[in-house]
Amino acid sequence: MALKKKKVNSKDASRKLVTAIDPKSPISEQYRTIRTNIQYSSIDEEIRAIMVTSSGPGEGKSTTASNLAVTFAQLGRKVLLVDADLRKPTVHHTFAVNNLFGFTTVLTKQKTLEKTVLETEEQDLYILTSGPIPPNPAELLSSKSMEQFIEEAKSQFEYIIFDTPPLLAVTDPQILANKCDGSIFVVYSERTEIDQAKKAKELLENAQSKLLGVVLNHKEVQNGDYYYYYGAK
Ligand SMILES: Nc1ncnc2c1ncn2[C@@H]1O[C@H](COP(=O)(O)OP(=O)(O)O)[C@@H](O)[C@H]1O
Ligand SMILES: [Mg+2]
Repeated sequence: MALKKKKVNSKDASRKLVTAIDPKSPISEQYRTIRTNIQYSSIDEEIRAIMVTSSGPGEGKSTTASNLAVTFAQLGRKVLLVDADLRKPTVHHTFAVNNLFGFTTVLTKQKTLEKTVLETEEQDLYILTSGPIPPNPAELLSSKSMEQFIEEAKSQFEYIIFDTPPLLAVTDPQILANKCDGSIFVVYSERTEIDQAKKAKELLENAQSKLLGVVLNHKEVQNGDYYYYYGAK
């Protein structure tokens, strides 16, 4: 695809992402561990469309999705980070770009994917902000157009990472789970309630999502050890 050479204009874009600013840090190393685990999950089955979700708000879905996207791009693979949180989108804030056009613009066929995607200053990392919030996000995500979107994105990018809203708040992540190849579930240490996490995991299972792993976010660092934990289900 002849992507526009228009890189996101802020020099500070992606600077807030630890994997971009400090790839050698232990936290970046943990993101690479998650990446490796996803790659191992891909041995029998191709895992290229991955969604990041959690039970509630503020648990680190967007942080995890964007850092994972950077980490995959650092392998030299073309990666598309899609803001599929059509309730509280944040990718445009993270990358300091406007959100006039994006995912919803492509889903509603007002613009092509090629014309809407933005190239970032991180090599091989492309983003699709949410675009204007529609009145009917769940309907849009269940549409045929969404299936075509995934197909097209897969033809242009090696990995597509979807940032999503919370599982216990809206049905959107379940709809997406069914269309993606796998999901990453984020738990915020000492904030996510166990019952809620269980309920959310059940919803993912009901959607027949392949749970690629659980990220324990914000686990307190003790004795210089970094306790970001990743484990298979
Ligand atoms: N491990 C962490 N350490 C410090 N701040 C974090 C961590 N994870 C998330 N945050 C911050 O918490 C807020 C919510 O995180 P975010 O990734 O936007 O959550 P969600 O997308 O699940 O709502 C953001 O301001 C983010 O920068
Ligand atoms: Mg978010």
